[in-house]
Amino acid sequence: MVGRIPLSAIREEFPILSVRVHGDGPIGTVESSTGKPLVYLDNAATTQKPRHVLEAVYRYYKKYNANVHRAIHALGEQATAQYESSRLEVRDFLRAVTEREIVFTRGTTEAINLVVFSWGRKNLREGDEILLTEMEHHSNLVPWQILAQEKGLELRFIPIREDGSLDTDALPRLIGERTKLLAVTQMSNVLGTINDVRSIVSLAHQRGVPVLVDAAQGVPHLPVDVRDLGCDFLAFSGHKIFAPMGIGVLYAREALLEEMPPFQGGGEMIRAVWYDRAIWNELPHKFEAGTPNVGGAVGLAAALRYLRGLGMENVRRYEDLLTRYTLRRLGELRQVVVYGNAARRGSLISFNLGDLHPHDVAQYLDAEGIAVRAGHHCAQPLHRKLGLSATVRASLSFYNSEEEVDRLVEALQGAEEFFSRGLH
Ligand SMILES: Cc1ncc(COP(=O)(O)O)c(C=O)c1O
Repeated sequence: MVGRIPLSAIREEFPILSVRVHGDGPIGTVESSTGKPLVYLDNAATTQKPRHVLEAVYRYYKKYNANVHRAIHALGEQATAQYESSRLEVRDFLRAVTEREIVFTRGTTEAINLVVFSWGRKNLREGDEILLTEMEHHSNLVPWQILAQEKGLELRFIPIREDGSLDTDALPRLIGERTKLLAVTQMSNVLGTINDVRSIVSLAHQRGVPVLVDAAQGVPHLPVDVRDLGCDFLAFSGHKIFAPMGIGVLYAREALLEEMPPFQGGGEMIRAVWYDRAIWNELPHKFEAGTPNVGGAVGLAAALRYLRGLGMENVRRYEDLLTRYTLRRLGELRQVVVYGNAARRGSLISFNLGDLHPHDVAQYLDAEGIAVRAGHHCAQPLHRKLGLSATVRASLSFYNSEEEVDRLVEALQGAEEFFSRGLH
């Protein structure tokens, strides 16, 4: 049960969860019914979509599709209304003060790049420091590296402890005169660690340092309230929160957005243009150059409405129980080593099985119908720090069940036996 809703009812909302894989025909065909029932445990990479979202996107393209903010016709007005009401849905979901603080982007990566190349280019000088953590995804590292090269900045890193938690005791010493911004993931996409963003923001703000939160893994699993967190910027991706790919959000405090120059130039983001200059549109349109992903925004709003119906507290509670169950079951396998054991953790678990290569493990699981991720999960420096080249990652969502976790554990037992017999 997620809140008061039985798991079976939730799973019915997600048609893809009942497909079979590796049958006699392509997925979805009658012939595929000879295959294995899908166990989808790759939710940190992307999530599946409920009917609410599928239908909202279908309805949008079937009935309302037009370009927004430009057309003086009924369809255009309807499309604009849907796009802008999707922004209000995001504002309410994040508890932002105003919709002027909600910028639609392609995803987390583009949202972080927006901050780096708009705010960063304007405000940073040679010798300035950006404070990151050792557990950042490449999206919250590589853009900073590019700007650091361009401007002569220094990147510094908050270390992680043995258990995979962030060593926040090091913070007071790491935030110095030159620190101009702190950028931190809300939840590690490798270790599962949930960082205490509120305390980090509070400490950084005492020193006058703004904070960017990479909430790509946080927003889909935790109740998030930007006013309570106190952060200055927060980024997340629609596709990780049950919405389509190609839509995401940058939340930023209005005062900061007002001061920032545009990220990209083109249509939509201008108020008036001459051959030699232009003046910018008002917030948030100043940051949305070109035709936006309206269908994606409509899908995102539908996903957020669905989640509000479930209740993010209920989602968190259910996923927490399922994660603990999974950790307990994985603990029964002698050869499984789990990476990340922080007290506050989310519903993804990275592990290795003896000295088997994670790709072999993932392939074995796939043959059993179980989808996991294997690799460095776009966090190569972190893997290097842990002395690993890759891990297997099982990432759970509220639509996963204990039975699915049991199938994972059984399949891992099978993999252990299979590879120990040297049959490969
Ligand atoms: C913590 C974290 N940050 C950023 C990203 C990048 O998200 P996207 O590829 O949707 O822009 C991911 C995706 O895996 C992530 O897990």
